[in-house]
Amino acid sequence: MPSVYIETYGCQMNVADSELIRGHLARSGYTAVADPAAADVILLNTCAIREHAEERIFRRVGALAHHRAGKPHLQIGVAGCMAQHLKDRLLERLDFVVGPDGYRRLPEMLGGDPFADVRLDRDETYADLAPQRAAGVRAWITVMRGCDKFCTFCIVPYVRGRERSVPLDAVLAQVCDAAAAGHREVVFLGQTVNAYRSGDDDFGALLRRAAAIPGVARVRFTSPHPSDMTDSAIEALRSCPAVCPHVHLPVQSGSDAVLARMERGYSVAEYTDLAARVRAAVPGAALSSDFIVGFPGESEADFADSVELMRRMRYDFAFLFKYSRRDHTKAAKWDETVSEVEKQRRLQVLIDLQESIAAEINAGWVGREVEVLVEGPARRPEGWLAGKTREFKTAVFPAGDAQAGDLVRVRITDATSHTLMGTPLSVVRDVSASFAADPASPSESPL
Ligand code: 5AD
Ligand code: SF4
Repeated sequence: MPSVYIETYGCQMNVADSELIRGHLARSGYTAVADPAAADVILLNTCAIREHAEERIFRRVGALAHHRAGKPHLQIGVAGCMAQHLKDRLLERLDFVVGPDGYRRLPEMLGGDPFADVRLDRDETYADLAPQRAAGVRAWITVMRGCDKFCTFCIVPYVRGRERSVPLDAVLAQVCDAAAAGHREVVFLGQTVNAYRSGDDDFGALLRRAAAIPGVARVRFTSPHPSDMTDSAIEALRSCPAVCPHVHLPVQSGSDAVLARMERGYSVAEYTDLAARVRAAVPGAALSSDFIVGFPGESEADFADSVELMRRMRYDFAFLFKYSRRDHTKAAKWDETVSEVEKQRRLQVLIDLQESIAAEINAGWVGREVEVLVEGPARRPEGWLAGKTREFKTAVFPAGDAQAGDLVRVRITDATSHTLMGTPLSVVRDVSASFAADPASPSESPL
């Protein structure tokens, strides 16, 4: 049987796509291997969101080339967003290049001549292809693909194509499969996940239907777009015990002028109103965000507005990026006005501020009780377990008799900006049984 080694870069959608590719190739007789030296096919599933991500993958392609020695049949190739973006440059060095809409044809193409398939297909959702998921408490489920927003900095619509949703029945079938396979948490994925639509069913309907499936202790989703956040989705967050109280709401900038040039489709006031509505509906909900510093034309005053917004919003965590110019995008035609040194300085200001805010927020959890879904051993100390609270905070505690997949009530005794530490109080092992017996527990917020 031929063997395939898959390495994944970039976002969670790529993790899910790798699982899809693995499942699809497995049905065609490929075995997945964990060592590139043992593989007949080496596939890198790639990311193009920032230049840095692409450089890393080029270096990796170079480093993998030595596996060709004494193995003339070995095929090394690239899948995903970078394949779509840099087909010609990649094909010079590789045996195949396949974009995000070309995975279906991989089994028939592999094993033959070098090939490239970077056609975008506005209907491809892979709804009928079962992924081969990694074991673990969490299952990633792609519910929509592509993006129609065309923010002026972003390459995603060009490499992943237009927005399309996986039909509701297919998503729910995947949720059932994931629960049956022992995954306790499902995470719905999409570039603008809350733009989900299947017939008359919107994203709120999807959340409500998924949350009602027995065995699913927790439902999460990433990343929603502020402009697509409907009352229906907020209502699902409020009313479904299994839907976790955490919303990642990427803002990108705290300046109306920059947001307008980014073509994000909302103002700072609209964004903060939305966040206030989420917080009012779901008291104690965690909020997180993405910011870009150094977008073309971002003045000192614009940046100060981002700092101010971060201070006001008090995010639980944030992903912070230096602007990276991307081919095809509108902003690629604009002069870069912020030097690399200044971008770095602005980035560091936001990192430091977010660290101090997160430390303060987490210190406020000391003394409280949380519910932790255990993922496995903590990196340290020895003998401790790690998992996430419903708010998506990492929590660690001495294992006792708890194990991966358990929901554990933990009293928090200490905290850093990244981690809560605590003492276990009680363990709920059979999530599905307790759900059937009492829908109000155990995943209802303890807070
Ligand atoms: N430069 C820097 N950051 C970017 N992102 C997307 N495109 C770029 C770019 N060209 C960031 C945004 C987005 C996250 C996934 O990546 O913050 O929300
Ligand atoms: Fe990129 Fe904007 Fe689409 Fe997000 S919403 S994937 S930032 S174009």
